[in-house]
Amino acid sequence: MPVVGQISREIQKPHLEILGGSKLAGEVKIGGAKNSALVLMTASLLTEEKITLNNIPNLTDVRGMQEILLAMGVNCEQKSDLLELHAKQILNSAPPYELVNGLRASFFCIGPLLGRLGQAKIPLPGGCRIGARPVSEHIKGLKALGAIVSVEHGVVKASVPGIDKRLKGASIVLDCPSVGATETILMAAVLAQGTTTIENAAQEPEVQDLAEMLNTMGARISGVGGTTITITGVKQLHGCTYTAIPDRIEAGTFLIAAAITRSTLRISSVIPGHLKAIIQKLRDCGCKIKTYETSITIAADEINSVDITTQPYPGFPTDLQAPFMALLTTAKGTSVVTEKIYENRMQHVPELQRMGASIRLQTNTAVIEGIPQLSAAPVSGGDLRSTAAIVLASMAAKGTSTVNGLNHLDRGYSGLEKKLNSVGGHIQRKD
Ligand code: UD1
Repeated sequence: MPVVGQISREIQKPHLEILGGSKLAGEVKIGGAKNSALVLMTASLLTEEKITLNNIPNLTDVRGMQEILLAMGVNCEQKSDLLELHAKQILNSAPPYELVNGLRASFFCIGPLLGRLGQAKIPLPGGCRIGARPVSEHIKGLKALGAIVSVEHGVVKASVPGIDKRLKGASIVLDCPSVGATETILMAAVLAQGTTTIENAAQEPEVQDLAEMLNTMGARISGVGGTTITITGVKQLHGCTYTAIPDRIEAGTFLIAAAITRSTLRISSVIPGHLKAIIQKLRDCGCKIKTYETSITIAADEINSVDITTQPYPGFPTDLQAPFMALLTTAKGTSVVTEKIYENRMQHVPELQRMGASIRLQTNTAVIEGIPQLSAAPVSGGDLRSTAAIVLASMAAKGTSTVNGLNHLDRGYSGLEKKLNSVGGHIQRKD
């Protein structure tokens, strides 16, 4: 197994063979948001009634979360993009390490378990290929709500003291606007006694999606989308039917696919308002973009250099830094890309360099001199978005590239190559 920072160069099975140089044309339909789906699934633990989720993408991460919920006694049934979850009884509030390991979002279970049962034992998700990713802010929030939390032998043990085992509302100021910590505290606080406020809260659309689903279940949450969220605890929540928002990162990836291949494309089933930062940067590059109620069109010809710094929402998303850098390797002029969220999110740089890209990397800042065309090569993705980046680079490169790292890609993109092929790409998956 490759370790962090090392990438296997063996041609793995499965892999993609990508013939570069094709123009794209037509329409791509975007699926439901992975980062919403995972957290909405854990919210099903908050009620003994049935939850029906629509627009749930077919991803290995979603299947991994289903396995974790099943291990806790949740009944899960998936029919296409509809997922029914029924946590009538939670039989086990301690999901096993084998299932939790590798799926960082599994830690989201801690909030709902504490809220509903007053106890939870979740193995620490550990480090990750893109950085250390601590959960200190999640734990700080749970402690503020009255939970007793300890970390023993790599497991976070949390319990609520008192006869009613009910968390108590509190005022919490986050050190950083962590998406996961905001979601954990939201799910714990909805069943707490009294009012909770979260200041310096994350504003990401996926946080807003979770709050909307919780309110549909009977929660009382306000202020979401701003930096201060207020939650008035209720005694219990009920079942609901809810539709996850479209995946803004998948949508952004297809906009960049159009730009890097200098093509014209329509992206449908999206919320353009969630993509403002990426649309702005693509316009700055020279792309012509029109937004409609639920779709976006892009027409790309010459691409000019731009500078990018990743930021929490509504800033430029870290999850699109790698794909956008792939585009900038072909831009006219010099671009500077600065990664501010994660310490190890430049794994695509050596792979892009193997394709001829001119990039100088100093810690988390990359200086990119655009070149007229990349050249095909065997390349390997080291994490989800770096693999997406080299797929896009291969679409623009001269010749046929072999792309490894599909175990990462399939975590976050449902049928990426099928969708690209439907608009003119030439990609074969070799199983
Ligand atoms: C979520 C997304 C991920 C995205 C990220 C940032 C999911 C499943 N994943 O991850 O795709 O890249 O938001 O948009 O939704 N931090 C701390 N202490 C903490 C928690 C976080 O210092 O307790 C730091 C992290 O190290 C990182 C930054 O805060 O530097 C952002 O992390 P966070 O927003 O928590 O990301 P995730 O929720 O893990």
